Amino acid sequence: MIITISHQKGGVGKSTLAYNVAVELSKKYNVEVIDLDVQQTVTAYNRVRYEMGQKPLPVHIFTTPEELEVYFESLNDETVVIIDSGGFDSSLNRFAMLVSDFLITPVSSEFTEILGLQKYESILKELSEQSGMRIVTNVVLNKTNPNQKKFDDVNEFISSSYHFILMDSMMRRRVDFANSVAYGFSVRELDKKSESAKELKAFVKEIKEKAGINAKKKD
Ligand SMILES: Nc1ncnc2c1ncn2[C@@H]1O[C@H](COP(=O)(O)OP(=O)(O)OP(=O)(O)O)[C@@H](O)[C@H]1O
Ligand SMILES: [Mg+2]
Repeated sequence: MIITISHQKGGVGKSTLAYNVAVELSKKYNVEVIDLDVQQTVTAYNRVRYEMGQKPLPVHIFTTPEELEVYFESLNDETVVIIDSGGFDSSLNRFAMLVSDFLITPVSSEFTEILGLQKYESILKELSEQSGMRIVTNVVLNKTNPNQKKFDDVNEFISSSYHFILMDSMMRRRVDFANSVAYGFSVRELDKKSESAKELKAFVKEIKEKAGINAKKKD
């Protein structure tokens, strides 16, 4: 099972969500993380995790589609792979999108996000034409204002697109995301009862259901 967190726009929360989802899934499944970003954010988060005495995640860094392809050839069916892609368009990121079973795209609810999504939609369109498959991504609203109730603009745009599916879960803007990283924790490991922890739990549950993660659980 290959799950890629992808958006060509920077700073939307790809690495943050990739790390949090990977940590949570790793408690029950054999998870491996692929870091495709030149900034190597998820690798850095995982290093903190190790330095703070937690069991680190297996993180691999690949810089070419060929390296990624070789890795996939040796992949076990039971492994859940979480790919954090960089916030730019590249042949490496496009390759990851093409081979993924489930794509996730975080966006915030500001109007400017729609412009970013339009650009990303054109990439999904190109990849769909190239592959002859309809490539869709599951859009998750992230970093939304904790008090905001309506998301009409962004919802309307997402529902009018052939390439976007809006996820039911939403991750609000919470300081826990930055705070937990300092300990190498997911937000659930930092505080199971927090709002961010509840939102992460619901998000991971939705991913498991929609992606159909049926890999063998860890013993
Ligand atoms: N739900 C959230 N609440 C609060 N802060 C968040 C949330 N999600 C992400 N952030 C913060 O937003 C910033 C950008 O997040 P992140 O690095 O995950 O984005 P990215 O999409 O991976 O960026 P890049 O494209 O540069 O790799 C970070 O400071 C992160 O802590
Ligand atoms: Mg990142």
